[in-house]
Amino acid sequence: MSSPELSAAPVLVIGAGIMGAGIAQVAAQSGHRVFLFDVREGAASQARAKLDQTLQGLQGKGKITAQAAAQTLSRIAVVDQLAQANDVGLVIEAIVENLDAKRALFQQLETVVGPECVLATNTSSISVTAIANGLQHPGRLVGMHFFNPVPLMKLVEVVSGLQTDFAVAQAIFELSETWGKVPVHARSTPGFIVNRIARPFYAETLALLHERAAQPAELDACLRAVGFRMGPCELMDLIGHDTNFAVTQSVFEANFYDKRYVPSLVQRELVDAGLLGRKSGRGFFDYRAAHENPSKPSPESGADPKLPPPEHRSLTVMGRGPWAEHWAQALDQAGLSVAREPKSDWLGLDVDGAQLRMSDGRTASMLGRDVAVFDRPTSQAVGAALAWAASCQASGDWVRAAPNWLRMLGVAPIRVQDTPALVVTRTLAMLINEAADAVQQGVCSIDGANAAMRLGVNYPAGPFDWLGGWSAAGVISVLEALDAHYRGERYRVSPWLRQHAAAH
Ligand code: NAI
Repeated sequence: MSSPELSAAPVLVIGAGIMGAGIAQVAAQSGHRVFLFDVREGAASQARAKLDQTLQGLQGKGKITAQAAAQTLSRIAVVDQLAQANDVGLVIEAIVENLDAKRALFQQLETVVGPECVLATNTSSISVTAIANGLQHPGRLVGMHFFNPVPLMKLVEVVSGLQTDFAVAQAIFELSETWGKVPVHARSTPGFIVNRIARPFYAETLALLHERAAQPAELDACLRAVGFRMGPCELMDLIGHDTNFAVTQSVFEANFYDKRYVPSLVQRELVDAGLLGRKSGRGFFDYRAAHENPSKPSPESGADPKLPPPEHRSLTVMGRGPWAEHWAQALDQAGLSVAREPKSDWLGLDVDGAQLRMSDGRTASMLGRDVAVFDRPTSQAVGAALAWAASCQASGDWVRAAPNWLRMLGVAPIRVQDTPALVVTRTLAMLINEAADAVQQGVCSIDGANAAMRLGVNYPAGPFDWLGGWSAAGVISVLEALDAHYRGERYRVSPWLRQHAAAH
């Protein structure tokens, strides 16, 4: 069935839970006649009644007209037998996340619907290839992965299994656009795009917690400063540690236990303890009444460019580029006399021979005695939280002075243990690396990865946008420093990044 035919076709939504109800709403709002079916008696009628309330709420807020609300609802019919919807052009399945149940359902559907009918699954983690196995026409089965809440989230991953006809995937892609969504093609591989590329956002924070490099609130503050709406700890608390741990485990197992995706003991302990996050009242943070504002960041103190400058004899901005310019300007505005060393192979400040260096992945202790490293800043906003660490041999004077110099540069320093690539540097490098592997393996395009992460999990930028402001060689150095420190497969560099570095 082609895209224009699909856009006029009746749609059968199977499973009237959170996702099915949202999908039915969006399809009906786009003008489709919708049949809603659920195996649990009364579930589809309840979902329709709830949708009625939602539509009335939207009408009350002036977001839709009374006529649109009534029309949308009138387009949705509850059916108690699949055969009542045998003339549909599209079926979207949103039932329980279980391979056997989904396979059985689609095999049954082939005996009910016409040969042209497109079959779509909203699975979030099961292989589309595997669901299609056993169908008479596996080419017409495609993944149509919506995000929760469906009416608000723009992204749809259009997932092709090994046997999916490209014309079918393309028709679903175009249909999703007419529904006001932003579709992205994906190949059926574990986690598809978003759930795969997002793993390091959680995994790097969990690794830092595991080695007690920083506190949850500190890690959250550093990553919020990049523009993430929530830090990883508060986000895992919101998602629920049981759910997040299950996704991590399923991606790990589905990748034949590739160490890149190894789950964390820190998270398993929370699950074992029943500290599942907001829903259980406690996770990394305590959400019970006595503990207000649980994820308040705790930087050492805010940035204050008006501070009296720490004592010094000579001050040099090392390296070149926008950050060096920005720092030179900030120090100049504070009335300090600043030398420049644009040919330096590191970025940062030299204060009387002591070094304050932007992280290149190596620890401060590897770089020398009076050395402090700081995280990769991504915003010039004054007061943004930024992780830093001191060499284990650094003098007490330098350990006290380094954060004050960071405040002079306009950031709010947060001291963490001297771990390679600190917090933001390692997280962004690993997100870029994962996205690069996904592109290398044909899971998605560069634009697809960027759109998926911006729209599926509200990232402030896509992984390849970050790469554009960095360099493939820089990301590789960070990953190699991490790999040298920890050894093992976790930080192996994507072949795509190596090729990209060689070509640029
Ligand atoms: P849910 O538990 O809210 O709803 C599932 C519904 O399917 C229930 O009403 C259940 O009675 C019904 N059902 C179960 N087996 C059935 C069958 N054989 N035939 C007909 N109805 C059946 O689940 P939810 O969250 O809506 O998830 C549904 C699907 O969407 C799953 O595959 C899930 O992985 C996927 N998904 C969920 C997301 C989420 O955030 N909840 C996001 C994206 C995808």
